[in-house]
Amino acid sequence: MIGNIIVKSNYEEMSHYAASVVAGIIRLKPDCVLGLPTGSTPIGMYKELIRMHQTEGLDFSGVTTFNLDEYVGLGLDLNKPYTKDQSYARFMWEEFFRHVSLRKENALIPDGRAKDLVKECHYYESRIKQAGGIDLQILGIGTDGHIGFNEPSSPFSSRTRVEDLHAQTIADNYEKFFKPAGFAKGQVPKRAVSMGIATVLEAKQIMLLASGQEKSDVVFKALSGPIMEEMPASVLQLFPEKIRIVTDQTAASRMVKYTE
Ligand code: F6R
Repeated sequence: MIGNIIVKSNYEEMSHYAASVVAGIIRLKPDCVLGLPTGSTPIGMYKELIRMHQTEGLDFSGVTTFNLDEYVGLGLDLNKPYTKDQSYARFMWEEFFRHVSLRKENALIPDGRAKDLVKECHYYESRIKQAGGIDLQILGIGTDGHIGFNEPSSPFSSRTRVEDLHAQTIADNYEKFFKPAGFAKGQVPKRAVSMGIATVLEAKQIMLLASGQEKSDVVFKALSGPIMEEMPASVLQLFPEKIRIVTDQTAASRMVKYTE
């Protein structure tokens, strides 16, 4: 099991702690490179980072970011962020980028609309290398154990590529994001461009966030079960020295007895 598990009493405290880790890295290295997730889990962390920017002067102008993934067929030009779609680029723009001093040209997201997706994946990998690698990669975790959109059975050696989403992931995405926005089930994209597991693991530090009862089983299995490609997040157990797991009490309920 990974020793570095920080369990906070609730979602808000988990989010504030996660934001303090990000802010600490930015203060230490103003030109740092961050790997960012979308999804419901990091929203509170982004909110707190926005607050830190607005009230404490946390400066993102030297920071470069790489998002983990984007749906195939979707994307957004951050210089003209007007189209309404469910792209992860739009999510990042609304929830984070437009509120902080991050330069648009330093906010990188795979372009799911690229005509040649294989070329786009290679380009994305080369941009990460060009930036000197990722200092802190932040991850969520899917109920099936995916990290990024590396679904169960993704090779641990995988790099940025197009991945078919599993039925459970499509269902989760529909419930959380597409249904509330009035989309039909059939409109949820079935493929995504995702950083690979090997790409993620090259980051100098990794912080995985998990919140809520629905994640308690997968957190338990991924962090204390066998390390196998059927459970992508289990690979994190191989790198205890650079992994930090931050959860709320409910997500950790099968792992530890909460004491704070
Ligand atoms: C999204 C991503 C996914 C999510 C995961 C959890 O960029 O990489 O792996 O982190 O699906 O999603 P939420 O936070 O909505 O439960």
